[in-house]
Amino acid sequence: MKQFYRFLSHIMCGKAKKYFRKLYEEEFLQYKNLLNKMDYIIQRADISERALLYMMSPTRKDITDIQIPTLNLLKDLKSICIKNNIQFWLQGGSLLGAIRHGGFIPWDDDADCGMMRVDCKKLEEFLKQNEDFAIIDCYGIRKYDGMAYQMKKFINKHNPKINIDLFVYDYIDINNHNKIFDIWNEYQEQKQNMKNEILALDVENEDCEIHDIKIKQKISKIIRKYTKNYNATDGNSIIFGIEQIPSKFMRVYSKDVIFPLRKIYFCDDYFYAPNHVYEYLERQYGNIWRLPHDVGDAHHMFSEWSYSHSLQNNNKKMIIGYTAGAFDVFHIGHLNLLKRAKENCDYLIVGVTTDELIQATKNKSPLATLDERMEILRQIKYVDQVVVQDDLDKVAAWERYHYDKLFSGDDWCGNPRWKKYEQELKKIGVDVIYFPYTKTISSTKIKDFIMNNAEV
Ligand code: CTP
Repeated sequence: MKQFYRFLSHIMCGKAKKYFRKLYEEEFLQYKNLLNKMDYIIQRADISERALLYMMSPTRKDITDIQIPTLNLLKDLKSICIKNNIQFWLQGGSLLGAIRHGGFIPWDDDADCGMMRVDCKKLEEFLKQNEDFAIIDCYGIRKYDGMAYQMKKFINKHNPKINIDLFVYDYIDINNHNKIFDIWNEYQEQKQNMKNEILALDVENEDCEIHDIKIKQKISKIIRKYTKNYNATDGNSIIFGIEQIPSKFMRVYSKDVIFPLRKIYFCDDYFYAPNHVYEYLERQYGNIWRLPHDVGDAHHMFSEWSYSHSLQNNNKKMIIGYTAGAFDVFHIGHLNLLKRAKENCDYLIVGVTTDELIQATKNKSPLATLDERMEILRQIKYVDQVVVQDDLDKVAAWERYHYDKLFSGDDWCGNPRWKKYEQELKKIGVDVIYFPYTKTISSTKIKDFIMNNAEV
């Protein structure tokens, strides 16, 4: 353990070291057993990758020139919010940076915060007459891939180029947790309808941020129609505001994942983080101690520059692999598949099929819940990220995860659906690789065995 500490100290320099110490002393020492926490990190981190993360993309002056005023703006936002009894939390890259680097991710150049819609309205009301600060609404349309959104930014009116992305969340009530996918699907449908209405507007430039005030008003009117139902001031769950950029992962959280907020250090000040900060982050990024797989894609913080730069330094192109299945009653056949898959890629994403989809495709229910099956997979050392598979279509999964290789047991080889995937994926340079199905075992065999040998 000491060696691990010494190693971390060695790879971190000055400021980062100070915040690491602060973070662990103040956040983790309160737990009975610090060693458990360190074990948690070791288990989840391949140390060499972690070291790589720290060595990646040293901060450049043009980035610090943005980070410093952005930090000041965050402090302004905090003091206004405290005065008005408004809560907000760090999210996305800012939260990841707070946990992993004690401040900004070295190559990140913006700040992301989350806030409940009710609080955001309160803040907007307060800032209406403010001479220095404001919340602005930005609108974007991208017809080529059907994107249409509204985003809020907190700005200093005297330097609007520096701003903070404010993501709005709504309260909802979910009485039956199994319904969470239905709720998310319904939300996605509404979002699609909203986007269709916006994209049907007569906008000249088809790929742009909207500046025309009349168009903005029209979009805003459409958005109000869709957001007006989200007016609850409390609820047992929290969902990402429907009008915002599309989410690549399911952004519905039980309220206790976010509240009560807890303090977290970010640079030289404290801010707030969701209550279950690791659950919140892992939903978005998978294992945060591993090399990010969505570099240059999901978020500009993983800019192409930092990605290619860091990977060039290591002379390595990162191969992303994807496999999916029910993974019910985990067994050696599953393990063999995952081991072989990981031997053939650098970052393995595993899709776990929802109960509904298993029922629909295999005409039976899994023994373990989706959460349990996902948790087991998260603990497998070959697996880097676990995601929900709610759609069998592997081409749609490629659109989400941009993997380089698709893996499966050879029980699917020759299947017409898989032949089609092979053709489609070949066009985008993705290999489909089949490994020998471990014939001696399957989830069904185990369940049958138990049934047949159960004592009566
Ligand atoms: N797999 C494998 N060898 C096995 C079982 C599964 O290689 N003995 C592979 C499958 O080909 C698939 C992945 O593991 O790529 C997940 O399969 P899943 O359907 O969860 O496993 P089974 O045990 O076959 O499930 P069931 O008996 O319910 O069909």
